[in-house]
Amino acid sequence: MPAPLRTAGFHHITMVSTDAPRTLAFYRDLLGLALVKKTVNFDDPDAYHLYFSDRVGEPGTILTFFEWPRSPRGRWGVGGVHHLALGTGDAGTQLMWKRRLTDAGVGVTGPLDRGYFKSLYFTDPDGQILEIATRGPGYAIDEPADALGVELVTPPSERLPDGRDGDAIAALTHPEPVPEVTDAMRLEGIHHISALTDDLAEAGAFLEGALGLRLVKKTYNQDDGRTKHYFWARYDGDQVAPHSALTLFDWAGSTQGARPGAGQTHHIAFRARNEEEQLAWQDHLRGLGVDVTPVLDRTYFRSIYFRAPDGLLMEIATDDPGFAVDEPAAELGSSLRLPAWLEPRRAEIERSLTPLARR
Ligand SMILES: [Fe+2]
Ligand SMILES: [Fe+2]
Repeated sequence: MPAPLRTAGFHHITMVSTDAPRTLAFYRDLLGLALVKKTVNFDDPDAYHLYFSDRVGEPGTILTFFEWPRSPRGRWGVGGVHHLALGTGDAGTQLMWKRRLTDAGVGVTGPLDRGYFKSLYFTDPDGQILEIATRGPGYAIDEPADALGVELVTPPSERLPDGRDGDAIAALTHPEPVPEVTDAMRLEGIHHISALTDDLAEAGAFLEGALGLRLVKKTYNQDDGRTKHYFWARYDGDQVAPHSALTLFDWAGSTQGARPGAGQTHHIAFRARNEEEQLAWQDHLRGLGVDVTPVLDRTYFRSIYFRAPDGLLMEIATDDPGFAVDEPAAELGSSLRLPAWLEPRRAEIERSLTPLARR
């Protein structure tokens, strides 16, 4: 018997931008991520596909954007992502982010104490909801580390809206301006992704059965104290892997479906180690009756796509070959890269794209 398939966590998340230069200014210049690949949407070559990441493009730290200038504004709802959380070291570096963002004119809420981490919320220029979350203290604060996700945990009153001192939270910030992203505050990639479902049990069974994730926390939304909020992650019964937590809010009975578009997540991608493991995933998913695409060559990884039962578009992407496959590692993101079959159209494609500022 082969070992059961368990994803290591997220590979990347893909969102929709209406303005590539503005997205570059926000994610590279303000949030300090590296542009690791400048290419086009292989299914729509007149549109940019920008990849941001840490320096080298490690899976789990990758944020990508399709640029669709005429896309209508999307809306979050069932079958869609509500927000993306990026990690930072601790409460101190989180406050530095609050100061840096507010000084840049970005409206920020928090930091709110979620128990397992502290959270700061804001939106990107297209309206995508973002969070910066502290690395810890982690999910073992109210359950044993080797038995996470067992109890339904009621958050203590001081973490609920009525128990918070909103004025004190709003006033809290770093005392000095933060003109540069310091090494200590550098964003650590995907901390968690939170989505909305109308069937928590079915969605959870899919995350467990299809992707090999495990339930690590059953609690309530700490902004209303009522809505169930469950967390799944890559968990071996001891440690919760970084870049692997998918959380679901229970919107049972809701008719508000997610509407794709600007300011929304297009899809989320999980990791397969290599091509061989990806084919095993494809077989496994088909065996569960899931409609899966053929393997598509995305140059930097290979991809299969499918939908969760509530409609959330998912991908499994391989760790290899990575972003250094078509330009030197030291020059990632510096020039427009095209797959071989689009090279004959380079001049025409370059004319259709807005030039992006170099750093
Ligand atoms: Fe969150
Ligand atoms: Fe993708």
